[in-house]
Amino acid sequence: MKRTRKAEILRAVEILRRGGLVAFPTETVYGLGADAHNAQAVARIFEAKRRPPNHPVIVHMSDAGQMERFARDIPSVAWRLARRFWPGPLTLILRRALDLPDAVTGGHDTVGLRVPAHSWALALLKAFGGGVAAPSANPFGGISPTTAAHVMAGLGQAVDLVIDGGPCVVGLESTILDLSTDTPRLLRPGAITADTLANVLGIAIARRISASSPAPGSLPSHYAPKTALQLADRPFPEWSQLPFPLAVMAFHPPPKGIAPRYWVMMPQIASLYGRDLYARLREIDRWGCRLILVERPPHTSEWEAVHDRLMRAAGLGHLL
Ligand code: TXA
Ligand code: MG
Repeated sequence: MKRTRKAEILRAVEILRRGGLVAFPTETVYGLGADAHNAQAVARIFEAKRRPPNHPVIVHMSDAGQMERFARDIPSVAWRLARRFWPGPLTLILRRALDLPDAVTGGHDTVGLRVPAHSWALALLKAFGGGVAAPSANPFGGISPTTAAHVMAGLGQAVDLVIDGGPCVVGLESTILDLSTDTPRLLRPGAITADTLANVLGIAIARRISASSPAPGSLPSHYAPKTALQLADRPFPEWSQLPFPLAVMAFHPPPKGIAPRYWVMMPQIASLYGRDLYARLREIDRWGCRLILVERPPHTSEWEAVHDRLMRAAGLGHLL
């Protein structure tokens, strides 16, 4: 019998209160949640993901009003962006509140905060009342999960409860904007583009300064499928030059004479491409191909997040 939402949320809250792990859906990807104020519970996240301890995790809140519980010296731009984009796929990096466990912040003086736009996530956060520290619910270095089945496949027994809220509608991790210094800086592109943020703030958004900080997103191979992936512009290389079996993710159908077995047509709309990307990569990973050839998307602002994840999947670092 299907449990009612209320019962499921109560069970999840109980697990969080006693220091357990709850995987839950957000609009971006599934998160692996623990009570942000319980250092031991947060340590369990790192164990389950096999994630290095110096990588900070995002604290999820039910509303912007909770920002003051987790951050200090909050600049007015943070309130403005929170009003405009929360709940939504935007993470703000602020100076941390001093009573937060170091495990959450990776020992840094900053904390990442976000209010997710998903009814299950918000119901859980409201009922729990506190902050929920949650990285993406996948083993470290792998592809983020966009369904409950992905979470089970990657973490399974390590999680006390997986809340199934269906497939994520955004499908790529949140935009991360660092507001802990005087210059707002984009640390990870996402569905809310740098252009959109710049328009709202009326100032330019700086980009990440090389890979100096130990954010997992800054590791070139993060989000990588197991199969080698290469980006290509059209016209594609000569077929005879390519390793087979070959998988192709393209905006156009296969040319005549090419067996379309491993040919995946991708949406031409950035948001839909982003929604489908990780599920597609997981599927292709199971085919045992020698290479995934991906048709390079356009270089416009709305495609930046997709581009960034494809570059990482190719092991080429990111565009920032
Ligand atoms: O969409 C998302 O952001 C998802 C959902 C679950 O909310 N979460 C997510 O978490 O992608 P995770 O841990 O996989 O990626 C969080 C990124 C990491 O690159 C981490 O280094 C960065 O956020 N981050 C977190 N706190 C930070 C901080 N204080 N300073 C710099 N980067 C931080
Ligand atoms: Mg992640």
